[in-house]
Amino acid sequence: MGSQMDRLTFIKVMGIGGAVFATGLPGFAEALGPAGSAKASDFYFVQLTDTHWGFEGAKANPDAKGTLGKAIDAVNALDPQPDFVIFTGDLTHITDDAALRRKRMAEFKEQASRLKARQVRFLPGEHDASGDHGAAFQEAFGPSRYVFAHKGIHFIVLDNVSQDGSVLGEEQLKWFATELAKTPKKEPLVIFTHRPLFDLYPDWDWTTTDGQKALDLLKDHHFVTVFYGHIHQEHHHTTGHIQHHSATSLIFPLPAPGSVPKRAPIPWDPAHPYLGLGFRQIHTQPAMLKVGEGQGLLVLSEKALADPSKAAEKPA
Ligand SMILES: [Fe+2]
Repeated sequence: MGSQMDRLTFIKVMGIGGAVFATGLPGFAEALGPAGSAKASDFYFVQLTDTHWGFEGAKANPDAKGTLGKAIDAVNALDPQPDFVIFTGDLTHITDDAALRRKRMAEFKEQASRLKARQVRFLPGEHDASGDHGAAFQEAFGPSRYVFAHKGIHFIVLDNVSQDGSVLGEEQLKWFATELAKTPKKEPLVIFTHRPLFDLYPDWDWTTTDGQKALDLLKDHHFVTVFYGHIHQEHHHTTGHIQHHSATSLIFPLPAPGSVPKRAPIPWDPAHPYLGLGFRQIHTQPAMLKVGEGQGLLVLSEKALADPSKAAEKPA
């Protein structure tokens, strides 16, 4: 695609509506190379989060059994398909019953297998992992922390839910430091976690107790973006040079941090079904950028489930 087309495409993305957020990711162009080079690539991926399979509660979501399937249909309708889809935790709803936990994992996995995207990745939330330190999750989905690379971008998945105390833990931090040492500091880095790595609202467990240690390890990496779930709403925050973006849930929204005395699901509104539920497309569009400018761009496109035409909108 030529730069003119890319710019028009970008305008189209920006024009979808109020639920679109765009952010510059410095360094993407520099790191990925000029358009047409071997490393340059425009692609997008999808973040789904907090599907809570097994949740029951008509006040919060009378379609708890149907919402995940609706989201999968919306993602399957995207053309072209995303390069990959990632679920950022709370795949299943919490239970003390180990057999039921495994049943929910199996049912969730069966549903997720309907996704047409070539690659689907998973990480656990505390609902999946806190009851057994992540054992059932790992049986069903493999390691709860891992690295991968895609078209010049480094991705690292961190597990801040499998141990007691909302922590990453010293052993994982050591592993993280080792992985970061293999990652050139000027190449773009995307981190996925379930809980926020910063203190968003610790009273509601919207934090990672030792998250600052992870952020300290990232301080010499120039271009870092963190995507997370857990708080069941869209939220954007910056710590130093690191950007943090949470996505909406696919079961029920939660109130803004500290806005009400008690953290509880926002009730379902029959006049606006699926309001506050959705998923996110993340487009990397280095070809839009001027070569040598040293600026890159990542476009976040929030897709509301409430409006099927938007949820299934063709990505730019
Ligand atoms: Fe959740």
